[in-house]
Amino acid sequence: MRLGLMASGDGSNFEAVVRACRQGPLRADVALLVVNKPECGAMQRADRLGVPVQLLDHRLFASREALDQALIETFRSAGVDLIVMAGWMRIVTTVLIEAFPERLVNIHPSLLPSFRGVDAVGQALAAGVRLTGCTAHLVTPEVDAGPVLVQAAVPLLEGDDHGSLAARIHRQEHRILPLAIALAAARLRG
Ligand code: GAR
Repeated sequence: MRLGLMASGDGSNFEAVVRACRQGPLRADVALLVVNKPECGAMQRADRLGVPVQLLDHRLFASREALDQALIETFRSAGVDLIVMAGWMRIVTTVLIEAFPERLVNIHPSLLPSFRGVDAVGQALAAGVRLTGCTAHLVTPEVDAGPVLVQAAVPLLEGDDHGSLAARIHRQEHRILPLAIALAAARLRG
C-alpha cells in the first residue's frame, strides 16, 4: 500500500507513520508528503528521512477546491492508495473527499465528538475536563466528524499546561495513527 501524507506543521505524526512503515508494524510505504507551508518542520523531517516532499502553498490557490484539485493530481501521479492528514491545518472540501472515498484518514487531538475544530487542546483545558485524548477517523464533509477508527484517552494531570498536555496527546497520536491506517486499509480490502 502506498501512502500519501499531508502536513502543515512540525510533522511528528508524519515521522511516526514513516517509522511504523520502516520498522514495522505497518505494511505500507510513504510515497509522498505534501505540505502547504514552506520550511515547516514536516518538510525538514521529510528531507532528513529521504521521503519525497511537495509544497502546495495554499496562498497560491484561488479557493479551497483549487488546492484540493492540485492535491488530487499530485497524489494520483504518485500512485497513492490511501491519504493521511497528519496535522493538515486546512479544511478539505468534497472535491478531495469524493476523489478518495474511504481513503482519507485524519488525526485530531481530542476525543471526538468533543472539541472539534481549532486548538482542541486549549478547548479541553478551558472546559476543565479530566480526560481528553486523540481520534483517528475517516474524513467526511462535516469537519472532524467521520467514522472513528481508533481513539486513545489522555488524562489531564495537576499542573498541566497547553504544552505538557499537547505533548502527552502527541505520544498517543503517534501510537494510534499507524493502527488507524492499518484499519482503514483492512476496510478497503473488505
Ligand atoms: C496533531 O496534534 C494533530 O492532531 C493536530 O495537529 C497536530 C500536528 O502535530 N491536527 C489538528 O488539530 C487537525 N484539526 P504534528 O505536526 O507534530 O504531527
